[in-house]
Amino acid sequence: MRIEIAQQAFGSAGWREMVGLRTRVLRDPLGLAYSEAQLAEECTQVHLALRVEGALAGTLLLLLPDRSGIAKLRQMAVAPAWSGQGFGRRLVLHGEGVLRDAGARAVRLSARETAIGFYERLGYAAEGPVYREVTLPHRLMRKSL
Ligand SMILES: CC(C)(COP(=O)(O)OP(=O)(O)OC[C@H]1O[C@@H](n2cnc3c(N)ncnc32)[C@H](O)[C@@H]1OP(=O)(O)O)[C@@H](O)C(=O)NCCC(=O)NCCS
Repeated sequence: MRIEIAQQAFGSAGWREMVGLRTRVLRDPLGLAYSEAQLAEECTQVHLALRVEGALAGTLLLLLPDRSGIAKLRQMAVAPAWSGQGFGRRLVLHGEGVLRDAGARAVRLSARETAIGFYERLGYAAEGPVYREVTLPHRLMRKSL
């Protein structure tokens, strides 16, 4: 099985395909959509696409480290047909490598409560209270690199 993880340039055809997968996995089930303004804010973020035999199977976005070395992961999504096969884990580990190379010393993310166990297996720890984001309960999670 040919598995590749590649960065897709903001605004490219690959990026648009990623927005389609993210919409299907992360927004449609909630009855929500991305606004043009939300997508425009992503122009400084790193867009990682995982492809299996050329077909888009997963997405992950990276916010490069700030001055204190804190980076962020967001928009983690694996297509249902490909879930449970280690692709989410591969994407996170790859993203952490990119961020480490960019000087990150720690990574933060906002996890849906239903995904906390996934991130815990990757070494992330939840901190602080539960809060609501895109209609769902979330917690902040953090990992030192
Ligand atoms: C959560 C998600 C990204 C996981 O991706 P995946 O490719 O299915 O996960 P993997 O196969 O890489 O799983 C890695 C490990 O985490 C575990 N795991 C996966 N999803 C889990 C979950 N929701 N809760 C607890 N553990 C989970 C797996 O069992 C596996 O465990 P192992 O270490 O014993 O092998 C994916 O299911 C998804 O896109 N869900 C819908 C969108 C979503 O919730 N995104 C996260 C928003 S914060």
